[in-house]
Amino acid sequence: MPRPLPVRALITGATAGIGRATAELLASKGVAVGILAERPAEVDETVAAIRHAGGTAVPVYADLTRREDLTGLIDRLEADGFTIDALVNNAGIGLQADILDTREEDLRRLFEVNYFAAFLLSRDALRHMARRGHGHIVNISSASARRSLPGMSVYASTKAAMHSFSQALRIEAGTSGVYVTELLPMSVRTRFFDSATNRAKKPYAPGWKAHTPEEIAAEVLRALRYPVREVYSSTLARFVLGIADLFPTIADAILLSRRKKQE
Ligand SMILES: NC(=O)c1ccc[n+]([C@@H]2O[C@H](COP(=O)([O-])OP(=O)(O)OC[C@H]3O[C@@H](n4cnc5c(N)ncnc54)[C@H](OP(=O)(O)O)[C@@H]3O)[C@@H](O)[C@H]2O)c1
Repeated sequence: MPRPLPVRALITGATAGIGRATAELLASKGVAVGILAERPAEVDETVAAIRHAGGTAVPVYADLTRREDLTGLIDRLEADGFTIDALVNNAGIGLQADILDTREEDLRRLFEVNYFAAFLLSRDALRHMARRGHGHIVNISSASARRSLPGMSVYASTKAAMHSFSQALRIEAGTSGVYVTELLPMSVRTRFFDSATNRAKKPYAPGWKAHTPEEIAAEVLRALRYPVREVYSSTLARFVLGIADLFPTIADAILLSRRKKQE
């Protein structure tokens, strides 16, 4: 039996890529969506597009690196009547840089957006969800949470932190009837790689096997209807990660030899 969809969902990073596709899909199914992002013009454009298509959307202006934007945000939304049945922690930024080329501000900015914001919003939303005895938190992490790659140490670390956090949150929230799902996509065709700071000699770019944001949005919708703990974007991704877990020394050797060939 599918679970009823949430009445209201707050989606971070909902103006582009996976977040936007998720907001549009959920709104088309009758979910009122909170569109959270940093750039007000993009928030307004997304809200207008969803309303034009017949959906319900409210703007939520927040730069997730700013403490003053985050503090009390969930409480204010709830007090204004936007009770949050589902929170989709999707906002994320990338960085392609070797460790020797990584600056401290890169490290801090990625953790602020990809991890601290998701943690704090989840904590604040969970207080309200737990009181009501239902809710769903969906964390958009990454396959790199399970296997870091050269040039992606900071990004993968933020996602590994989100992976660990999701595991604990799932149990702590589960006692109050709140579900937690982590999505671990591998490669998705969005502007993510274009906007990421890039100091890599051989930058990674999504290949022909990359998913569309709409495919990932469909996984979010499915998870809300049929709650599961983790969703991998493909069987191949799950297989490759499983093999790398089973044979880490071989995985390291393959990556090292590829890296030597590139240098
Ligand atoms: N694309 C992939 O291949 C891939 C693979 C695995 C996992 N993921 C994860 O999926 C999620 C979405 O990625 P995407 O590819 O859809 O990215 P995207 O197209 O670049 O969109 C990122 C969204 O996050 C928002 N955002 C960025 N910094 C923000 C900040 N400081 N405050 C508030 N909002 C902020 C952006 O809004 P503004 O423009 O207003 O900043 C935008 O709406 C990320 O967590 C990413 O790590 C992506």
